[in-house]
Amino acid sequence: MSQQVQGVIAPGKNEPVRIETIVIPDPGPGEAVVKIQACGVCHTDLHYKQGGINDEFPFLLGHEAAGVVESVGEGVTDVAPGDFVVLNWRAVCGQCRACLRGRPWYCFDTHNAKQKMTLLDGTELSPALGIGAFAEKTLVAAGQCTKVDPEVSPAVAGLLGCGVMAGIGAAINTGQVGRGDSVAVIGCGGVGDAAIAGARLAGAAKIIAVDIDDRKLETAKTMGATHTVNSRSTDPIEAIRSLTDGNGADVVIEAVGRPETYQQAFYARDLAGTVVLVGVPTPEMQLELPLIDVFGRGGSLKSSWYGDCLPSRDFPMLIDLHQQGRIDLGAFVTETIGLGDVEQAFARMHDGDVLRSVVVF
Ligand code: APR
Ligand code: ZN
Ligand code: ZN
Repeated sequence: MSQQVQGVIAPGKNEPVRIETIVIPDPGPGEAVVKIQACGVCHTDLHYKQGGINDEFPFLLGHEAAGVVESVGEGVTDVAPGDFVVLNWRAVCGQCRACLRGRPWYCFDTHNAKQKMTLLDGTELSPALGIGAFAEKTLVAAGQCTKVDPEVSPAVAGLLGCGVMAGIGAAINTGQVGRGDSVAVIGCGGVGDAAIAGARLAGAAKIIAVDIDDRKLETAKTMGATHTVNSRSTDPIEAIRSLTDGNGADVVIEAVGRPETYQQAFYARDLAGTVVLVGVPTPEMQLELPLIDVFGRGGSLKSSWYGDCLPSRDFPMLIDLHQQGRIDLGAFVTETIGLGDVEQAFARMHDGDVLRSVVVF
């Protein structure tokens, strides 16, 4: 048996997205069907539509989602029908070399559903990041479902599935921000703001927000920035150093993904400090740095994949802290929209008007 639901697909390179009927197979071994309650609109969905990820059109878009498990296949024991879950794209395998070394947040062989969702004519769909949640229901690997406190709003919970987790994790997991640290965040979109909120949660004493847009700097203050720098008018390296007794910040988080902002991060950090790259560059970008500076400044230069998160550890913890009022995940939801509004949400995202538009069902 299978069932039919409505979902948003990207039919071909740069073609507008549209709502189509999606055929969802019953869950096979290790799989689950999830009734989606909310799904955020992320840059990666736009990149799929633009053909920037791969050419496996048509895509079923959407991947920052929360919902309720409807049914599970054979052998699934971690989740059951009725569970409220956040979907993740890091269902750890337990067997790859990262998992075997006790570093499952780097898992190199994460799971997705084996069966394919299709259009009515049988065309196979490629779900965005193995999720595909701009749809009333979706089929995933059971390990992609992370149970969290059902009292939280689905629009808020779903955000942990991607960008907000990437930002918070860049600060608390990859950057290991600690009490009293000075932190600078370059680029204050959804990811950078989440890094600021994560740095505050971790007890950073000074949090310097850097952006080229004053509107973004205003929002960054509400997320926990103690100082702001507009790098269009002020040299951010000088500004960050002068705000840290001339030394530079202990941790600098780059949330843009460009060589020039990476260089700023590199030189704005204290000796032996940490740079975290969470912004995603494009393949043609090149970085040039004097090797003597890479050596002489010491410390660590790290990348953060999905905030180096372990969903089973981090999602329930962050939801609990949100429920206690210790981090405001709700501040990332700029607007809630319908399934038919995804194309407009892409335009608003492109114009920098929103942190997150969230489709609610
Ligand atoms: N210097 C400083 N800030 C910049 C610069 C620059 N040269 N260029 C852009 N910005 C700012 C923008 O003004 C914006 O506030 O960076 C921010 C980027 O935010 P978004 O476009 O909303 O992107 P976001 O969702 O936060 O993702 C940031 O992380 O996960 C990756 O693919 C994602 O590379 C992207 C990055
Ligand atoms: Zn693994
Ligand atoms: Zn995303």
